[in-house]
Amino acid sequence: MNSQPASPTRRNFLVGAATMLGAGAMGIFPASAADAPESLREYAAKKGVLFGSAISNLQLRDAPYSSLLSEQCGIAVPENALKWAALRPTLASFDFSAGDALFQFAHFNNMLFRGHTLVWEQALPKWFQMTVNSVNARQIMLDHISQVVRHYAGKMHSWDVVNEAYRIEDGRPDGLKVTPWLQFIGPEYIEMAFHAAHEADPDAMLVYNENWLEPDDAIAEKKRQSVLAMLTNFRKRNVPIHALGTQSHIYAETNTTGPNYKRFLEQVSDLGLTILVTEMDIRDKQSNTDLGTRDRLIAKQYYDYLSFMLQFKALTAVLTWGLTDRYTWLAQAGSAAKGVPVRPLPYDEDLQPTPSWNAIRRAFEEAPGRSSRGGSA
Ligand code: G3I
Repeated sequence: MNSQPASPTRRNFLVGAATMLGAGAMGIFPASAADAPESLREYAAKKGVLFGSAISNLQLRDAPYSSLLSEQCGIAVPENALKWAALRPTLASFDFSAGDALFQFAHFNNMLFRGHTLVWEQALPKWFQMTVNSVNARQIMLDHISQVVRHYAGKMHSWDVVNEAYRIEDGRPDGLKVTPWLQFIGPEYIEMAFHAAHEADPDAMLVYNENWLEPDDAIAEKKRQSVLAMLTNFRKRNVPIHALGTQSHIYAETNTTGPNYKRFLEQVSDLGLTILVTEMDIRDKQSNTDLGTRDRLIAKQYYDYLSFMLQFKALTAVLTWGLTDRYTWLAQAGSAAKGVPVRPLPYDEDLQPTPSWNAIRRAFEEAPGRSSRGGSA
């Protein structure tokens, strides 16, 4: 049941315009298509999908990398610059300099810009733990959302309003993760956050962003059911939520296209919600396999997973968590064995396209088209 019809707001127009404009607007492609570099942005835009990546201030100093981003991406998301740790030097102050610099990069390169993330229990500033308590947490959270969303009002494609609020292993019947936000405010912190974000920027698409929804296993299924219960409840009660972000940090060897995940995504679509792949990268568990074989394994998973996801007309954006293995967070967190280089992204550490680049291209080429608002075309 769609209690909030997708009104032709500026948000949709922006998304539509950027999607339709594709590479042309970037002004970086030579006049003749013949010598235009192939871009995932263009392949995706032909099907009404935005393709993009996480970006960071330090990485943009790498000129070849930043020009690759501007060539390949139609949307960008700050990897860290819009988290509390970056935005809030003190309880009384905000520092938007890093976020503003990334917005300028995106804007200059005709990319849409999305925000990550307004409420999370990680990447909190050092003062948080000794300052925030059950008396002031609600006001501090609402003030943060209001100030940050107002600062970027009218500039955001979407916001990850709340990130990773569920963890089945914490044992709660509702599946919620036990975080300071939950302990200090209660479960209602989530809907409070969405209302505050909507009040600060009525045109931004408001997203609930979650990890580990993809695997075909019992824990992921419990998580999907818990998240679906929240989304259903929110839509019924007109809580201003517009999309689900499924992070898609997946393993090459894991089944992430199973019937339970498919049914979940169908139910999310039936709620009238847009679906975004928000943080995709693919690591493997191989430790003594040759690079070529590993790359083929990872590329196959990119093709299989994106082909599966793109069957949903509600899916309107695919972002990878970085574009090159040179800067992936998995260099620390995700290698199968010590000294084994990770290969999770469409470009290798020399900024050369990996087999995954071609796999992503093929998935977009073979995907059904959709309007940029998502839902049935
Ligand atoms: O900026 C400081 C620097 O001043 C300091 O010298 C350095 C060493 O302590 O730390 C730097 O901050 C690091 C920050 O990344 C920027 O590089 C933090 O310690 C580090 O924890 C942080 O890691 C990020 C992590 O989220 C936690 O915020 C990763 O880069 C980022 O890729 C990762 O992204 C998350 C998404 O936000 C949510 N979904 C999962 C995803 C992967 O964990």
